[in-house]
Amino acid sequence: MNHIEKIAAQLPEYGLDAMLITSESGERYALGFHGEGLLLITRDGAQYTTDGRYIEAAREQVTGAEILLSTPDRGHMPLAKEYIEAKALHNIGFESGSMTVDGYRKYEQELPGILTPAQKLLDGLRASKDEGELALMRRAQAITDEAFQAILNFIRPGMTEREIAARLVYEMLSRGGDKVSFDPIVAAGANGSRPHAVPGDQVVDTGMFITMDFGCKVEGYCSDMTRTVALGHPTQEMEEVYSAVLNAQKAGINAARGGAAGREIDEAARRVLREAGYGEYFTHSFGHSLGLDIHECPNASSKETRPMPVGAVISAEPGVYIPGRFGVRIEDVLILKEDGCEDITRSSKDLIVL
Ligand code: GLY
Ligand code: MN
Repeated sequence: MNHIEKIAAQLPEYGLDAMLITSESGERYALGFHGEGLLLITRDGAQYTTDGRYIEAAREQVTGAEILLSTPDRGHMPLAKEYIEAKALHNIGFESGSMTVDGYRKYEQELPGILTPAQKLLDGLRASKDEGELALMRRAQAITDEAFQAILNFIRPGMTEREIAARLVYEMLSRGGDKVSFDPIVAAGANGSRPHAVPGDQVVDTGMFITMDFGCKVEGYCSDMTRTVALGHPTQEMEEVYSAVLNAQKAGINAARGGAAGREIDEAARRVLREAGYGEYFTHSFGHSLGLDIHECPNASSKETRPMPVGAVISAEPGVYIPGRFGVRIEDVLILKEDGCEDITRSSKDLIVL
């Protein structure tokens, strides 16, 4: 089944006649294409409208939906209205997780039928990746691993976090990444205690840890990885923290499988850090799902009680952050299987001293 068929097959369960797709990731999921258009999927067909900027590419790449050109005289809304009326569609689901309030008001005013929040329908399907999606995520991750190797040869004392972040972007895009999956995080020395530090003018110097968190997109699908490396020899305490984080990550990875609740996976890692005396410094969740968006659900977090689906792709990213001093995070990406998981991040996790 392609993704349009998968969405169509879910409509009866949600009591819907159609699903309206308006977000970039929704379009990409359904069509494998993004053209700032409007997609309506019914139980037995689909209509995609896009404008002159994208129409040629859409006609070349999109299958499984009738493609119509939206023009200033006959735009997305009139085309959608005609389709809804012709097919006598009544209950229309929409992406309530991403639609703005203004957008909702506009669709509600201009389209016939009842708009019904239906984010869950798409989230449920997107949580479990198929082989085509996994192939793109593996490619994105392989590019990210290569970029990490390249950055190790680039870093020198005296560079700024900003320069390293810019180079990471270059390394990923020049190797085939279409764009970054989020702005890279590069945090040196004391900045490393801020999990989402913004790279700035901080100069990297010997004796510092440098945490780099980065990823790219291939055909919309994300990668995500973090490595913390030492510039010059780390102190014994820094080494201890590093190995505690690595042990926690390994424990989480050992617990990660389809069917496990997110909180079981999180707890397996958290326990290791608690027992090593660093529990209070692990201030976020073990991991999040990713796919077309860098953060998807479900999470591997202490709050998540639902079983993780087989085929979910999650990050494994414990960290220890000691305010004002330093931080360590190590992040891989895992595909959950029935009996465990596959770690698709290939870069070494032994402490690298540059
Ligand atoms: N790697 C960025 C994040 O997970 O938020
Ligand atoms: Mn992450």
